[in-house]
Amino acid sequence: MSFKPLVLVLFLFRLCHVSPSTVGENGHRRTATYIVHMARSQMPASFDHHLQWYESLLKSATDSAEMIYVYENAVQGYATRLTLEEAESLESQPGILSVIPESMYSLHTTRTPSFLGLDGSADMSPESDSVSEVVIGILDTGVWPESQSFEDAGMAPVPSSWRGECEIGTNFTASNCNRKLIGARYFSKGYEAALGEIDESKESKSPRDYDGHGTHTASTAAGSVVEGASLFGYANGTARGMATRARVAVYKVCWIGGCFSSDILAAMDKAIDDGVNVMSLSLGGGTSEYFRDSVATGAFAAMEKGIVVACSAGNAGPSAYSLSNLAPWITTVGAGTLDRDFPAFAVLGNGKNYSGASLYSGDSSLSSLVPIVYAGNATNMTTGNLCMTGTLIPEKVAGKIVLCDRGLNPRAQKGAVVKAAGGAGMILANTAENGEELVADAHLLPATTVGAKNGVAIKSYLFSDPNPTATILFEGTVVGVQPSPVVAAFSSRGPNGVTPEVLKPDMIAPGVNILAGWSGKVGPTGLSVDPRRVRFNIISGTSMSCPHVSGLAGLLKAAHPDWSPAAIKSALMTTAYVSYKNGELLQDLSTGKPSTPFDHGAGHVDPVLALDPGLVYDLTVDDYLEFLCALNYSPAQINMLARRNFTCDPSKKYSLGDFNYPSFSAPFQTTQTGSDSGGSSRPAVIRNTRTLTNVGPPGTYKVSVTSQAQGVEISVEPETLTFTKPNEKKSYSVTFTAGSMPSSTTSFARIEWSDGKHVVGSPIAFSWT
Ligand SMILES: *[C@@H]1O[C@H](CO)[C@@H](O)[C@H](O)[C@H]1NC(C)=O
Ligand SMILES: *[C@@H]1O[C@H](CO)[C@@H](O)[C@H](O)[C@H]1NC(C)=O
Ligand SMILES: *[C@@H]1O[C@H](CO)[C@@H](O)[C@H](O)[C@H]1NC(C)=O
Ligand SMILES: *[C@@H]1O[C@H](CO)[C@@H](O)[C@H](O)[C@H]1NC(C)=O
Ligand SMILES: *[C@@H]1O[C@H](CO)[C@@H](O)[C@H](O)[C@H]1NC(C)=O
Ligand SMILES: *[C@@H]1O[C@H](CO)[C@@H](O)[C@H](O)[C@H]1NC(C)=O
Repeated sequence: MSFKPLVLVLFLFRLCHVSPSTVGENGHRRTATYIVHMARSQMPASFDHHLQWYESLLKSATDSAEMIYVYENAVQGYATRLTLEEAESLESQPGILSVIPESMYSLHTTRTPSFLGLDGSADMSPESDSVSEVVIGILDTGVWPESQSFEDAGMAPVPSSWRGECEIGTNFTASNCNRKLIGARYFSKGYEAALGEIDESKESKSPRDYDGHGTHTASTAAGSVVEGASLFGYANGTARGMATRARVAVYKVCWIGGCFSSDILAAMDKAIDDGVNVMSLSLGGGTSEYFRDSVATGAFAAMEKGIVVACSAGNAGPSAYSLSNLAPWITTVGAGTLDRDFPAFAVLGNGKNYSGASLYSGDSSLSSLVPIVYAGNATNMTTGNLCMTGTLIPEKVAGKIVLCDRGLNPRAQKGAVVKAAGGAGMILANTAENGEELVADAHLLPATTVGAKNGVAIKSYLFSDPNPTATILFEGTVVGVQPSPVVAAFSSRGPNGVTPEVLKPDMIAPGVNILAGWSGKVGPTGLSVDPRRVRFNIISGTSMSCPHVSGLAGLLKAAHPDWSPAAIKSALMTTAYVSYKNGELLQDLSTGKPSTPFDHGAGHVDPVLALDPGLVYDLTVDDYLEFLCALNYSPAQINMLARRNFTCDPSKKYSLGDFNYPSFSAPFQTTQTGSDSGGSSRPAVIRNTRTLTNVGPPGTYKVSVTSQAQGVEISVEPETLTFTKPNEKKSYSVTFTAGSMPSSTTSFARIEWSDGKHVVGSPIAFSWT
């Protein structure tokens, strides 16, 4: 504490010297940004302060490098520019845990509350006082503070415990913050060290959002209630965040060139110190071991401070192993659809029509049939079917509707390419990979997106008819679409590529065609050719589902201030639903078949049930440390996450299967027996233990297991757990016995504990490798 002024002085001193000089004054020093993790417990007594120690070690490896950031909370260490040789030399010094190259992360680009059952639910509106104590930190592209979603009418003064700031910058002053938007900071030093100075003609060196993504995610998590919100009349209604009375603190970490891990870590470092209760990160890139992933290391420190960290699962679906943000102390959120649609029909000259979706606004010049052409027939390029910039031959598309295939370039850009070539409209066809997923866009010309099946049908018409024609009819907004939710095809899927024993994603939440606040600096398509400005925009991605869960975590934190981040996650997971009201299983848009726990995790969030889960699977910091022991992490690797020495007990047997996670993943090895049994698979047995904590009334819970897994026996011991008082803990074990290797390499089951009122459900995923 008494060192604080020194930290500041040294830090500011350093900043003056952080300049492009580190990028290579002499033109020969090929540097990159590294994050240096320090073992503070090993600081020699001869140093008064750790910064002096950091400096002296850095000087011993290089005389020209300066610290870009010093980290105090998220990790212990700093970021600096080094050559590869300098990094290697530094890493060999005592007291240095590791020197890790910076990595790049990218963004995972009014009806939601009622879809989630938040409207009119008295239970879900804990006294305004407790919610207004909750601060949700959004690490993203910044904020458009003038958005109505950040109006603070009726809000109480800023909580006295809040230590954050409203940083000033270009066109951003302290008066841009208020009682709703209570903090706004920006982190650009890592970005500028790597790519040079920010081009202020393109983006603002301030917390101001020139992209829209950050304003959208922040208003989704905790935006104020705004009546009459819509995008060109689409999705007309009341826009509101999940936790309308919670506070928002914005940390701008993503710039036009991407999001750099040294900046993200600096933002997490500050957010921990500022006093946020929830961190929301709709970005990803970290799929390596947890100690190498800046988001995972920062999230570990946040978890220790009781901060919930929610991250997007990624938009790399529907392929298996496509998830990011896999650490078990992170809440990993996939995306589902809403019951809302924006139908726009492709009507063909043969009288047939095909449904699609669009947010096109404006006069439709397509009041009658016009010729239609396939982009692949109007180009000289092999990728012309994708309507990439400059690939369409104007004479072949002028005045026509052009059918473009989805993929590679942004969807709305394809429309801009058709428009630039003189096309009259566009039908955007999903490929098999996107299936029937209809992501709507605010196209610059009359256009609709159709599913893969309709795309094939329309192509077969236009390849067979000598004079094919079509038009597009726009039908506005439709609600009550069933089935919903459906897992979005783009939502990233398991299994977990880092720790197969931990099931990911954790859950899904709304992430398709979501209406929320937008930046005044960019049009709804995000394209530079789009001159339109909107107060609200409709976009899709796990970037949109993550802040839904961040806001809901804030509501749970307000209702249950004593719950740990793990208890909050458990409540959201064990009450999530996996079937529709009619009993049928949730569907996957990429296949049109039931989705699995590798797609939807524990299921779709149900915030009202999450408030009263009955029992939770809790985890302490020590439990997470034991998890790291079970991963056989070295002392240095554990220190990078825990920021202190923690010694795994060599006499103790650590098991990933006993890690008290609210879901189960059992990866079986297909080991062969000796020749005497003819090489058939040996039965494999996996035994997991779990501990439930009572957070509801006393009661007796009985277990039930449903299984689609043929050849796997599941037994639970004991089958009944009786809780007589609050916070009482009871353990059980579950044994999975696999017989012969099944025909499929994955299968699934579900375990539920119920006292007749509460249902505490967990998915089980089996895999054979
Ligand atoms: C932490 O561990 C390192 C080696 O693993 C050891 O040298 C050091 O003395 C330990 N520090 C403390 C405070 O236990
Ligand atoms: C500054 O912010 C205002 C909103 O207060 C905005 O209208 C204007 O375009 C911004 N100017 C620049 C240069 O970003
Ligand atoms: C939005 O809905 C309201 C009533 O629900 C209606 O009065 C208003 O005209 C609608 N606005 C648009 C742009 O559709
Ligand atoms: C599309 O066809 C269906 C019948 O298949 C019809 O009910 C509907 O009105 C048509 N819609 C349009 C926009 O033509
Ligand atoms: C248009 O493209 C399709 C698919 O590539 C091809 O089968 C068809 O022959 C082409 N038609 C013309 C007229 O070139
Ligand atoms: C496409 O190829 C044709 C025939 O080879 C040629 O005449 C035309 O100029 C080319 N167009 C473009 C845009 O490359």
